[in-house]
Amino acid sequence: MTSIPAGDTGEGDENAWRLPRLDEIEGGPPIRIDTTVPHTARIYDYLLGGKNNFAVDRAAADAIVATIPDLAVTLRLNRLFLRRAVRYAARRGIRQFLDIGTGIPTSGNTHEVAHEIAPDARVAYVDNDPIVLVHGRALMTDANPGRTTFTRADLRTPEDILSAPEVLEVIDFDRPVALMLVAILHFIRDDEKPHEIVARLRDALPSGSMLLLSHASFDANPNQGRKGAEGWKNASAEMTMRPHDEIRTMFAGFDLVEPGLRTHWNPDGEPGHPLDEVENVWGYGAVGIKP
Ligand SMILES: C[S@@+](CC[C@H](N)C(=O)[O-])C[C@H]1O[C@@H](n2cnc3c(N)ncnc32)[C@H](O)[C@@H]1O
Repeated sequence: MTSIPAGDTGEGDENAWRLPRLDEIEGGPPIRIDTTVPHTARIYDYLLGGKNNFAVDRAAADAIVATIPDLAVTLRLNRLFLRRAVRYAARRGIRQFLDIGTGIPTSGNTHEVAHEIAPDARVAYVDNDPIVLVHGRALMTDANPGRTTFTRADLRTPEDILSAPEVLEVIDFDRPVALMLVAILHFIRDDEKPHEIVARLRDALPSGSMLLLSHASFDANPNQGRKGAEGWKNASAEMTMRPHDEIRTMFAGFDLVEPGLRTHWNPDGEPGHPLDEVENVWGYGAVGIKP
C-alpha cells in the first residue's frame, strides 16, 4: 500500500504550505491516508474544482463523469442549495448550525455564508473523515475561534455527535438549531436506519429548529445512473440513491418549507443563477421547520 501522512500534500512540493498531521492535532499514533484508493470527499473536491485530491480520485471521478456527464453540475447545484438554505435559516433568525458531513473546505463554507447575514452565527462542523478534519480544522476553525468548531464523529452514532465537547462548545440545544445533512444521507445504507438517525437528532432540537437536507437520486435517469454508479465501486464509501418520495419521509416531524423537496430550491426568490436552468439533476434538497 502506498500511503502518505495525513498532513502531506502528496504532490511532492516541498515548499507547499503543510497542513498539520492528524496525530499532531488529536495525539496518538500517526494516521496514514491511503492514496491508492479513491476517496469520496476527495472525488467530490475534484468535481467541484478543488485541489485536495490525488490521481486515483481524479481517475475515479473521470470514470463516473464519462457515464454521467452532468454529475459535476449537480454537485455545484448542491452547493447552491447549501448556500441558499443557510441564508434562508439565517434570515429567519437561526444563529446555530450543526453541519454534519462537512466535506473538504471549498468556497462558500457554511460559516462564511452564515456570517454574511449574521456575524455572530456559530457553526459546529462534524465529519468522520480524517482528511476533512485536517483541512477543516486548519482552514475553518482556526480562523474563527469561539464561533466554529470541528469534530470527528460519525453520523451513524448520533449520540457521539450530540455529546461531543466541540459541538456543545458552540451549540446550545435549548435554542433553535439548523441541522444540516447536506449530501450525506446517501452514504448511510438502509440497514443503518437513516430515518432513525435523523429522528434521534431531530428529537434533540427545540421547536423552531430547521432541517437542511439534500440527497442524491437516480430519478432523473435510473438506467444511466446505475451505470455511472459502477465508477463509485472502489471509492471509500458506497452510496444508496433514493427516490423523491423516500427522501421526503426523512423530514418526518418537520414542516416542509415551500416549495418542498426540489431539484432546484429557491424559496426566497434569489436572483436567477445559471444553475437554476439546468435539467437532469441527480438529487433533491429541502428545508423543514420543527413545529
Ligand atoms: C459529498 S460530501 C458533502 C459535503 C457538504 N455537506 C456539501 O454538501 O457540499 C459528504 C461528506 O460526508 C462525510 N461522511 C460520509 N459518511 C459519513 C458519516 N457516516 N459520518 C460523518 N461524515 C460522513 C464525508 O466524509 C464527506 O466529507
